[in-house]
Amino acid sequence: MISQAVAAAADGVPLTDEFLADVLRGLSAAPKTLPCKYLYDAAGSQLFDQICALPEYYVTRAEIAILRRHGREIAGCVGNSCTIIEYGSGNGRKVRLLLKHLQPPLAYVPVDIAREQLHCSARALAEEHPYLEVHPLCGDFTGPLSLPPNGALFSRRVVYFPGSTIGNFTPQEALRLLRQTAELCGPDGGLLLAADLRKDPRVIDAAYNDRQGVTAAFNLNLLTRMNRELGADFDVDKFWHHAFYDPRPGRVEMHLVSRTDQRVLVSGHRFDFRAGESICTEHSYKQNLADLCELASSAGFVVQQVWRDPLNYVCMLYLATGS
Ligand code: AVJ
Repeated sequence: MISQAVAAAADGVPLTDEFLADVLRGLSAAPKTLPCKYLYDAAGSQLFDQICALPEYYVTRAEIAILRRHGREIAGCVGNSCTIIEYGSGNGRKVRLLLKHLQPPLAYVPVDIAREQLHCSARALAEEHPYLEVHPLCGDFTGPLSLPPNGALFSRRVVYFPGSTIGNFTPQEALRLLRQTAELCGPDGGLLLAADLRKDPRVIDAAYNDRQGVTAAFNLNLLTRMNRELGADFDVDKFWHHAFYDPRPGRVEMHLVSRTDQRVLVSGHRFDFRAGESICTEHSYKQNLADLCELASSAGFVVQQVWRDPLNYVCMLYLATGS
């Protein structure tokens, strides 16, 4: 069952104004930067799905391996008769591996910034699970979520935060988000969190520099998006994709690097680039398990279970809010 009426009312307004404001702010900063959430327009979401299937991109495969191997036990922690809120639900492939071990009734609130993909996957999921109450929310999961009124869904809330997307946040931002999530879950709730672990830097580097150039296309698509949605005049051929792992902070930085000195217009505002100057489009932190557990406790969670894939590439934690 899909609650169309509620979903339409709760859905966010078009993002253009906020997008423009964020782009003007980010390109005025030194060094230049853009929020990574804008990588996910319709084309970007498709490219991201292609990334997930790349031989070098281990992140998705490793999380799916955990869900396949430990799905029953994970579902046991999540429990029945709850509302599952998924941060960054994407194509909905992972949550299916969880839902298959859970019994109705259940409610599911996928939250994603990519509108088309969100509604498409929510509809498919609702059709496959007739007794699942599906309530998609389009928007940024770090902002306030307009969940349906108390009583419409199940009061016990479990957030599923997949994909190692937590890595897009600095440790400080991650703590804030986890605290906010503990608040959202309330007592007796939980957070099922997947995170990418530190590992051989060569493995990480390869995952963000795939040989087919899909990650490059994903990154460069942000320029195309600004051209289309904000009337910018980026010459996409005058930028290149640069991603590298910095072991000290333990993060990948993804950049769009200007090949030449150039001037770009974004809705009437001028931005100058020197040759070699870049826009940072993403940070992807790799976690240390002990630090991550400590972060979770500081946010008010109790670490109940930890699972890892056979290669120890990623981990999944079930964090409870306690009662
Ligand atoms: C979806 C944020 C987890 O950081 O690995 C993939 C996005 N960027 N390749 C990541 C991404 C470049 C991805 N997350």
